[in-house]
Amino acid sequence: MMAIIPPKAGQFISFEGIDGSGKSTQARLLAHNLRDMGHDVVLTREPGGSDGGEEIRALVLQGAADRWSPETELLLFTAARRDHLEKTIQPALARGATVISDRFADSTRIYQGITRGARRTMVDALHDLVIGVEPDLTVLIDIDPRLGLARAQARAGLEQRFEDMGTQMQAQMRHGFLELAKKSTRFVVFDGAQTQENLANAVQMVTRERLGL
Ligand code: TYD
Repeated sequence: MMAIIPPKAGQFISFEGIDGSGKSTQARLLAHNLRDMGHDVVLTREPGGSDGGEEIRALVLQGAADRWSPETELLLFTAARRDHLEKTIQPALARGATVISDRFADSTRIYQGITRGARRTMVDALHDLVIGVEPDLTVLIDIDPRLGLARAQARAGLEQRFEDMGTQMQAQMRHGFLELAKKSTRFVVFDGAQTQENLANAVQMVTRERLGL
């Protein structure tokens, strides 16, 4: 068994949503908030979150859209996640910190499992084999793709490969995320169209309630 089952003391929260959902801002706000309350918080992201993970991030998010086959891309995202788990997430959880990750395995289930041609069975098999960890709580920020896309394009930079996918694809992914959320109690879905402040308050309340923080 290659999966990592960590001896855990801390709690693990992931933020998910389509491009431009505002989840990165919300992850940051929650991290500030919990730190203000005196918690030890590690704010991290995927792909990335460790030295190796960040190197792989550049490989998967930059360059031509057809740079990798769907299978190779899935392996790269998974390799980045494994390194992130080993080097950042597990050590933090082991010492009792709260880990907040901007994206985790649900992103692969949706982006690689739906849109990039690598099928969900392959995504799930790989996850079971080399990751084997789920967050304690997943904050899904749900948003109309047209609004999300407008936001994402407003801050377009080098990392364009995924954000060029268009509204129809984003709508499919939105649906995919909502379907995932229906299947597990670790998800809480929030309306991403509300003001940043209201959303931050709602996320904070639910997190404290759910995780006893
Ligand atoms: P991210 O930096 O979260 O972008 P944004 O802040 O714009 O949402 O993620 C970069 C892109 O990587 C995003 O389009 C989703 C994609 N991605 C995958 O396709 N698979 C994955 O497993 C992960 C973690 C991200």
